[in-house]
Amino acid sequence: MNMILSVSLDWGIGKDNDLLFHVKEDMAFFRKTTMGKCVVMGRKTLESFPNAKPLPKRDNVVLTRNRDYAPDGVTVCNSVKEVLDYTSKYDTDDVFVIGGAEVYELFMPYCRRIYLTKFKASKPCDRYFANLDERADFKCIMTVPRECDGLEFEFTLYERV
Ligand SMILES: NC(=O)c1ccc[n+]([C@@H]2O[C@H](COP(=O)([O-])OP(=O)(O)OC[C@H]3O[C@@H](n4cnc5c(N)ncnc54)[C@H](OP(=O)(O)O)[C@@H]3O)[C@@H](O)[C@H]2O)c1
Repeated sequence: MNMILSVSLDWGIGKDNDLLFHVKEDMAFFRKTTMGKCVVMGRKTLESFPNAKPLPKRDNVVLTRNRDYAPDGVTVCNSVKEVLDYTSKYDTDDVFVIGGAEVYELFMPYCRRIYLTKFKASKPCDRYFANLDERADFKCIMTVPRECDGLEFEFTLYERV
């Protein structure tokens, strides 16, 4: 499976259950990359979407410990194993872990590629991602510098070594 996310200079990913950056080009990249695929997220990330609605035209898999949780249009799983069993019907490249911090950490061992947008700015945040540049198990294989809405960032791709 893959991961997709955006980070600040300090590897922050969110604050008050919202994203740090809402940049059109990054949103468009996320949409294009995940469209028609299976997306795996934590309950809090689902609830951070507008009206807590799942992402259209994608198979939305939501992880929660709450066995009574049953929002419309999502597949609910109560454990990592349930997610792995459910997503095994897909080609591994067609499954994207889309956050948040708890769920990225849980699925890191199963991940092969990480599509990471690196914003060149710091912002107050309360959720972080592991600093991939300090890890031996992933390496950056592509960097594309961009600028949008006055913000500099890079589209990068990390692959398991
Ligand atoms: N920068 C980005 O690209 C990006 C992407 C996505 C999200 N985010 C940000 O990340 C933040 C949310 O992240 P988060 O870490 O607070 O929440 P999260 O990972 O979205 O969801 C956490 C929830 O997942 C469930 N969960 C966690 N471990 C579980 C397990 N082992 N078994 C079953 N269920 C489990 C629990 O749900 P229950 O409490 O219901 O049991 C837990 O409260 C927000 O600020 C969001 O905007 C950023």
